[in-house]
Amino acid sequence: MLDVYATLLNIGFLMDSFVIKGPTTLSGEVDISGSKNAALPIMTACLARPGIYTLNNVPDLRDTRTMVKLLEIIGCVVSKNANKLIIDSRNCNNPEAPYDLVKTMRASFYVLGPLLSRFKYAKVSLPGGCAWGPRPIDYHLTAFEALNANVDLSSGYIITKGDLKGGEIIFPKSSVGATGNVIMACVNLKDEVVIKNAAMEPEIVDLCNFLSQVGVHFDGIGTDTLKVKGSNFKEDIRLDYTIIPDRIETGTFMIACAATGGEVTLNKVNTNHLKFVSESLIKCGVQIIEDDSKITVKSNGNIKPCNITTDIYPGFPTDLQAQWIALMCKAKGESYIVDTIYHDRFTHVPELIRLGADIKMNDNQAIINGVSNLHGANTMSTDIRASASLIIAGLFSDGTTNLSRIYHIDRGYEKIELKLQKLNGNIKRVN
Ligand code: UD1
Repeated sequence: MLDVYATLLNIGFLMDSFVIKGPTTLSGEVDISGSKNAALPIMTACLARPGIYTLNNVPDLRDTRTMVKLLEIIGCVVSKNANKLIIDSRNCNNPEAPYDLVKTMRASFYVLGPLLSRFKYAKVSLPGGCAWGPRPIDYHLTAFEALNANVDLSSGYIITKGDLKGGEIIFPKSSVGATGNVIMACVNLKDEVVIKNAAMEPEIVDLCNFLSQVGVHFDGIGTDTLKVKGSNFKEDIRLDYTIIPDRIETGTFMIACAATGGEVTLNKVNTNHLKFVSESLIKCGVQIIEDDSKITVKSNGNIKPCNITTDIYPGFPTDLQAQWIALMCKAKGESYIVDTIYHDRFTHVPELIRLGADIKMNDNQAIINGVSNLHGANTMSTDIRASASLIIAGLFSDGTTNLSRIYHIDRGYEKIELKLQKLNGNIKRVN
């Protein structure tokens, strides 16, 4: 009976939707949360060495809660107080990540590197496809083999074993996921590993900074050639670390303010992580004022078209492509955006068209013709960033936009509707 009740509650949660009434002008100030894409790998990095790790500024999201469940299955004891997590990984004894959790969150695959490093064995469910097509993991596996691991696929699980050795990894393309996984595999390795074409994203830099405090030696943090050397640890780790601000949440609010007009100040941000986004918004006629850990965005809502090609850091992030398309729907003229990272990541386009947008697709290029305004309609979330794009569009559309399946946005944005309400956004969660 309890199970049935729990299932019903869960279904109820999955049925939540947002009702957004537009047009709104956003104004005021709001605090930006910690970075999801930095917190998730750092949480898994706590598995590599036994210790008690205190992580601050961890965003309270569905994905971070899923990661806590996974760490507990592996044997960690985790306690949580608001945005602080204390992860005790001293008694972990189950280096396996089950399908049920990995299928809900691809970042679960990050446990492979740290588990292999600590237990010389890891069994992790193969992540499936995702809403925007295949997301391969071949770079991760080839790199582990190059470091002397044995890699097998059995019944949908990747099983890796072996005593890792140093070496050189050359990634064919810069990959955030593969770079993070390999770095974490090196924690207990006394030989040096050189990673060429390493990802330079701030989330990878944060992982390196965290592991530096654990005692791992790095050379070239934030560059595309990263040298990693583990350590001969003698004692359990005791560490207190603060996660960086979420640059994608920051960029989402910047674009939302630009699209709705108004003036918004975002607190607790790292302005250096958003240079490309700020420059792009300035080209659209938006005013950006940076002040230490604050960004103020001022917009009169008249947006000039600006073409974008997503790229690895410091280029324009693929995680802001969907939100940018929403903004360009308002621009006076034609613009395009090309996604070079994930070519199929455009499930928000048909939903924006439901609101009256004029967008044509040509492979991985969306061509957007600004229209005088969008009009509210029923829409559906398909992934985290697609949902953010539809919220932005709903905020500047005439009338009411219903956005269903918002469990996607709850995976990646902390209390987004409360933050938007604080900025005068007319958005409500309904069941
Ligand atoms: C990517 C983004 C990351 C974003 C995340 C979720 C980049 C470089 N990465 O990270 O910023 O937060 O999506 O939206 O912008 N690839 C392979 N084989 C592999 C791994 C990757 O071919 O084993 C390819 C991918 O298909 C992609 C590119 O390499 O074209 C970069 O992928 P990667 O950075 O690993 O993707 P994510 O870690 O998912």
